[in-house]
Amino acid sequence: DRDTVIGSKSFTAVAVNCASKAGEWIKSRIGRFAEPDLKYSMHDLVTEVDKGSERLIRNLIGTHFPTHSFLGEEGVEPGPEASALALERVSDAEYLWIVDPIDGTTNYVHGFPFFSVSIALAYRGQVIVGVVYDPSRDELFVAERGKGAYVHGKRMSVSEEGALRQSLVATGLPADHEDALPRNLRQIQALAPQVRNLRIAGSAALHMAYVAAGRLSGFWEVGLNSWDLAAGSLLVEEAGGVVGDQAGGSYHLGVRDVLASNGHIQEELREALARS
Ligand code: IPD
Ligand code: CA
Ligand code: CA
Ligand code: CA
Repeated sequence: DRDTVIGSKSFTAVAVNCASKAGEWIKSRIGRFAEPDLKYSMHDLVTEVDKGSERLIRNLIGTHFPTHSFLGEEGVEPGPEASALALERVSDAEYLWIVDPIDGTTNYVHGFPFFSVSIALAYRGQVIVGVVYDPSRDELFVAERGKGAYVHGKRMSVSEEGALRQSLVATGLPADHEDALPRNLRQIQALAPQVRNLRIAGSAALHMAYVAAGRLSGFWEVGLNSWDLAAGSLLVEEAGGVVGDQAGGSYHLGVRDVLASNGHIQEELREALARS
């Protein structure tokens, strides 16, 4: 309720509160929203619920931390250039909240219960709090830098598979069909025969949370944005995994072509993607 929100000052408590409030509201609106609008292409949807969720989160954060900066997907023009610019504009921020109000909008629109709310707080460009909430399963994934990653209070750790052939790996089908999708499709073609199996479930943030929880051995995708990855990156790192780009570089807010795993398969996965 509202009182517990206003009373708390801790960053993590506010992030958790925002994610659960937004998640509950999103869930209550399933199947009850106007025809979605198209953004970048016919593969890229947005509903009034995406916008309402972002407004709710932004207002709550603003009440607690009026001096903090805010970057949310629905406040940015669609397309890779605009998102790079938007990130550039807040690159000097001391405290920056990075929010995806619904990650998995296509699933949401179709009633496929795999979507999430993703909220991260970065301090001088480094993620210090990451929260991903799955309202369909009521699963709350929370990480604080240096303090571990938890699902509903239970400590998470990544899985133990040591080779691709034992691994369950997830990826995505990017909405950008000019550049990102063809590259990702070549990678899928190369990887599918080498892993135990592939999953494409439609929420990058939740895929990252599943790597942290040990339910997936790894995840990669091409052309993602800061709001898809920021919270999940800390979940994976704090659960003992590795997050970087596909060239072997380490994670930062500008990473678009992500590669995350339990760590044991990181190099084998990177090489397999590079060969595709
Ligand atoms: C999308 C989801 C999807 C991924 C797309 C993202 P959105 O985010 O994370 O899994 O494949 O690349 O854009 O638009 O639903 O927030
Ligand atoms: Ca979107
Ligand atoms: Ca997203
Ligand atoms: Ca979104």
